[in-house]
Amino acid sequence: MKAAILGTGSWGCAFGLQLASSWEKVVLWGIDPEQVASICTTRTNPDYLGEIVLPQNVHATGDLEECLSGAEAIFVVVPSQAVRDVIHRVASSPELAPGVPIVNLAKGFEVSTLKRISEVIADELQQARRTTGHPIGVLLGPSHAEEVALGLPTAIVLSGQEGYAWHQLQEKISGPSFRVYTNDDLVGVEIASGFKNVIALAVGMADGLGTGDNTRGTLMTRGIAELARMGEALGGRRETFFGLAGIGDMITTCISHHSRNRNFGEAVTQSQTDPQEMLGSRKQVVEGVFMTQAALKLSEKLGIELPVTKQVHDVLFSGKAPTQAVRELMERQLKTELE
Ligand SMILES: NC(=O)c1ccc[n+]([C@@H]2O[C@H](COP(=O)([O-])OP(=O)(O)OC[C@H]3O[C@@H](n4cnc5c(N)ncnc54)[C@H](O)[C@@H]3O)[C@@H](O)[C@H]2O)c1
Repeated sequence: MKAAILGTGSWGCAFGLQLASSWEKVVLWGIDPEQVASICTTRTNPDYLGEIVLPQNVHATGDLEECLSGAEAIFVVVPSQAVRDVIHRVASSPELAPGVPIVNLAKGFEVSTLKRISEVIADELQQARRTTGHPIGVLLGPSHAEEVALGLPTAIVLSGQEGYAWHQLQEKISGPSFRVYTNDDLVGVEIASGFKNVIALAVGMADGLGTGDNTRGTLMTRGIAELARMGEALGGRRETFFGLAGIGDMITTCISHHSRNRNFGEAVTQSQTDPQEMLGSRKQVVEGVFMTQAALKLSEKLGIELPVTKQVHDVLFSGKAPTQAVRELMERQLKTELE
């Protein structure tokens, strides 16, 4: 069994390591020659995964055809805004064998189209007339790369288009410390996984201001309310927002020192530099910044209120002071909790 993993960053490498215990061959494809060379020569990817050593059956290449050739499943692990370009290349490859499932692991929406990533993949396959036989799925949930790479117990959700035996892939990617659940609510799983990063930014900002644990709990809970409001309006199921991809990933991301989104929110409150400038100097992707833009645009389109999202947006994009954002949230008109 060969797996193709697109992306040689933190999660691509950690997921590759996880698969390597049950798949004969795992091939990572990357655009960064430094990352590829490092994996090939030292079996490590220091800037992305520290000193973790990848097993011998994990290979890296800059050649997409080599990566795709003979793969039984393709896992997409690049930043969400890059998925369209990457799938465009995959869809025009002669090495893309019929029937191979394509599974997205990136968390977010495409900001320019406001589409979920599975929709972006479907678009590109359709454009290249490769629609037949490529089931599209997602593998999302609370799964910090740093912990998965250490083999710490993790549970995650596999969801995909109807008509494919996802439970068979579930068996193939599960492991003793990597428990995969299925969930047939593809829409809900994707929305939940992307949106939690917006709330992680908010919690990080609150932590940076030192507002305490009451605020953290409030932001997470009101964040779930915003997720459920937006997610249901987009066709997701409410139960999904209270599952692993929803509240599970929200809690993990908001409380973890591994979370780039939480950490970025905190850094924003402790620096005089413009958040966009700060973002430009980061090597690793901070998905929540893009998701904040997408979520706000979606809320305007759907005519629903997302007060926390709006404040995070204004801090990131309009120069609003985080203290002012907190004040405005606290001074909103009083209402019932379940509205
Ligand atoms: N890091 C985690 O713990 C984790 C866990 C679950 C899901 N995810 C999600 O997985 C996705 C990738 O995260 P990551 O942590 O691996 O990010 P990362 O920043 O560590 O790595 C991103 C990788 O994508 C590559 N890349 C960037 N732009 C590209 C492009 N245009 N074409 C091809 N490759 C490109 C980079 O070279 C790098 O190898 C994100 O959506 C993230 O939210 C991350």
